[in-house]
Amino acid sequence: MQTIIARSLPSLKKNLNNLKKNQKVGLVPTMGCIHDGHLALVKKCKKSKYFTIVTIFVNPAQFNNQKDLEKYPSQEKKDLEMLKQYNVDLIFIPKARQMYPAGYSTYIKEITFSDVLCGKHRKNHFSGVLTIVLKLFLIVQPYAAFFGEKDFQQLFLIKKMVKDLNIGVKIIGIPTVRDSYGLALSSRNKLLKGRDLEIAKKIYLNFKKIRYLNYKHIKDIELYLKKELKNSGLNNLEYLEVRDSNSLNKPKHIRNGKKLRVFIAVYVGGVRLIDNYKLN
Ligand code: PAF
Repeated sequence: MQTIIARSLPSLKKNLNNLKKNQKVGLVPTMGCIHDGHLALVKKCKKSKYFTIVTIFVNPAQFNNQKDLEKYPSQEKKDLEMLKQYNVDLIFIPKARQMYPAGYSTYIKEITFSDVLCGKHRKNHFSGVLTIVLKLFLIVQPYAAFFGEKDFQQLFLIKKMVKDLNIGVKIIGIPTVRDSYGLALSSRNKLLKGRDLEIAKKIYLNFKKIRYLNYKHIKDIELYLKKELKNSGLNNLEYLEVRDSNSLNKPKHIRNGKKLRVFIAVYVGGVRLIDNYKLN
């Protein structure tokens, strides 16, 4: 089947109305600049035999910095080619004024976990993410939606929103896709130049070192990692924190049964990179 491209809400709705009655829809929301990380979500969605919809929309509401929004990479032609190759059923590419028409003023706010980690440094970022994701859920009404674990806090908050607001969409998290050096794939990697790319690859190499340590206190792991990252040239750290994978809370000690994860945001050559790593 040919990939349908919908650039407006009426065109999307028309195509959704044409679907067979019991055809389940799988949604893969993206901001474009498609890479293997996105394609892993698409593959999983296709494998489940869902009518696969990929959205490409650089959501202004989730950028707290106008420069960052302007700098965000885009490559629509290449994205469309790649998604067609993966037999995506429909690609939705709305314009900002369609999603946020003049006078738009309704936003979602989660009040407990949105102001830690990335949220602490990117004011209203998660409000913007949850707002666009909820809008896409309401417009598309998918059976399932797919998100990468690289944005672990985002995935956590989307699951929380779905639970809190009784939204009937199945949320599927997909493990982070890494390059052969372990660098988490991200659209922002395109902005890394020369030596900065080499430095960025050190994030994962340092993460892997923690597995062999026998620390009892979370603080000690954090201090160790910060030192090692600095020695590797990763000295512009925004945050580095170990948290509970299930609750996103910050435990003091390492206890049996607690699933821990280290979270990082770091600037490399002016590019903000995030990653996370399961400790146990
Ligand atoms: O992860 C992203 O690319 C974005 O935050 C998302 C989920 C597409 C919402 O704009």
